[in-house]
Amino acid sequence: MERTFVIIKPDAVQRGKIGKIIQRFEDKGLKIVALKMLTISKEQAERQYSCHKGKPFYPTLVSFMTSGPAVALCIEAKNAISIVRKMLGATDPINSEPGTIRGDFSVDTKHNLVHASDSKESVELEEAIYFPKSEIQGYHFSLNEWFYSEKP
Ligand code: CMP
Repeated sequence: MERTFVIIKPDAVQRGKIGKIIQRFEDKGLKIVALKMLTISKEQAERQYSCHKGKPFYPTLVSFMTSGPAVALCIEAKNAISIVRKMLGATDPINSEPGTIRGDFSVDTKHNLVHASDSKESVELEEAIYFPKSEIQGYHFSLNEWFYSEKP
């Protein structure tokens, strides 16, 4: 099983989309193993987006991400990283397909409602910024028996 890390961003919280976004992950059959609401600190945002440091949008991205409460979650599934990225849709609103979260709910590159890690390395880095290991739940997810053809 693979884990991925997701943030429902401050714009999605303000727009009342927390439930709708989490619902999509649950409907897909993904197992949520950690979840919390928090106001992201400047330090956390800078660490999370360190790969974008120096880009023109970096300062406003950090101030946007720290502007109000967000919701962080860890999700576990077979191929979780690719599946969740696909469900989010492309960053550029011109390319985010209808049916994806961004494709259905956003028209702006920065205010794109949700972030998800794009590789195993970024999961490790990002998860550690927001969740101590003790906050990630290990439990039997009975739905797995109905979502997977082989025991995952
Ligand atoms: P996210 O998936 O969180 O990863 C980096 C974020 O930077 C991205 O979503 C957008 O919110 C933001 N971003 C990326 N490119 C741009 C851009 N050209 N202008 C403004 N924000 C951007």
